[in-house]
Amino acid sequence: MIDLKGKVAVVFGLANKRSIAWGIAQKLSEAGATLAICYQNERLQRDAESLAAELPSARTFQCDVSVDEQIDTLFATLKETYGTLHTIVHAVAFAPSDAIKNDFLLTTRDDFRIAHDVSVYSLIAVSRAAVPLMTEGGSILTLTYYGSTKVFPNYNVMGVAKAGLEATVRYLAASLGSKNIRVNAISAGPIKTLAARGIGDFSKILDAVTDRAPLHRNVDQLEVGGAALFLSSDLASGITGEITYVDCGYNITGL
Ligand SMILES: NC(=O)c1ccc[n+]([C@@H]2O[C@H](COP(=O)([O-])OP(=O)(O)OC[C@H]3O[C@@H](n4cnc5c(N)ncnc54)[C@H](O)[C@@H]3O)[C@@H](O)[C@H]2O)c1
Repeated sequence: MIDLKGKVAVVFGLANKRSIAWGIAQKLSEAGATLAICYQNERLQRDAESLAAELPSARTFQCDVSVDEQIDTLFATLKETYGTLHTIVHAVAFAPSDAIKNDFLLTTRDDFRIAHDVSVYSLIAVSRAAVPLMTEGGSILTLTYYGSTKVFPNYNVMGVAKAGLEATVRYLAASLGSKNIRVNAISAGPIKTLAARGIGDFSKILDAVTDRAPLHRNVDQLEVGGAALFLSSDLASGITGEITYVDCGYNITGL
């Protein structure tokens, strides 16, 4: 039984009950962690607050991770509220809709920049702000997708961003290892969330997994949450810089 009592976990990326962040928050909370749940803007505040109310000792905070001042303000508040942090979960991504609708060749400079700023650079910015509060060591986790490695229809610039995110995980792991802070990514199989709804023909991707994955089904948010719980715990004390697939085995298949 994993026991995270006395540990503080900060989870970014809660939009609604379908969010992967919600599956992770539930699992961390079940294990006894104190949760700081972060939502992007006022529009998402009400949903975030009502979900957080379901978890004992969870509090909500607003932070747009593309704005440095908001990250600074958030971590100043987290320092005051909790003192020490142990786990950071970065379940955040964004690409402008044109970039995941049009042919990849038409990706604009601006759309490329925005996708990488929100989906990749934010992990570096959030980690830098968190590290001074992670004085007892800990775990930083992000969420990636197999589109980093193989081409999926319409995933486009997000695939390029996820490749950058996975490389970022390795460089951050090397940078933070001496502080006993581990940095890992979970590569989740496709799940129907708000972000996934933006990807055209997403249901075809879900069907391909049911068809071909060794387990012949798709994963759910709580299964991703289970892996996040393991990676956040001492059971994973020797694991850093890794990409762990939680995809019913889809990535091992050739045909
Ligand atoms: N759903 C899938 O199929 C799938 C598969 C693999 C990986 N992922 C990844 O999981 C993560 C979570 O996505 P999800 O599928 O749960 O969808 P989601 O829409 O529920 O979550 C995405 C979150 O990112 C947040 N976000 C976007 N821009 C932000 C910003 N500037 N500042 C702060 N927050 C911002 C949104 O508010 C939202 O809460 C993403 O990194 C996504 O790429 C999703």
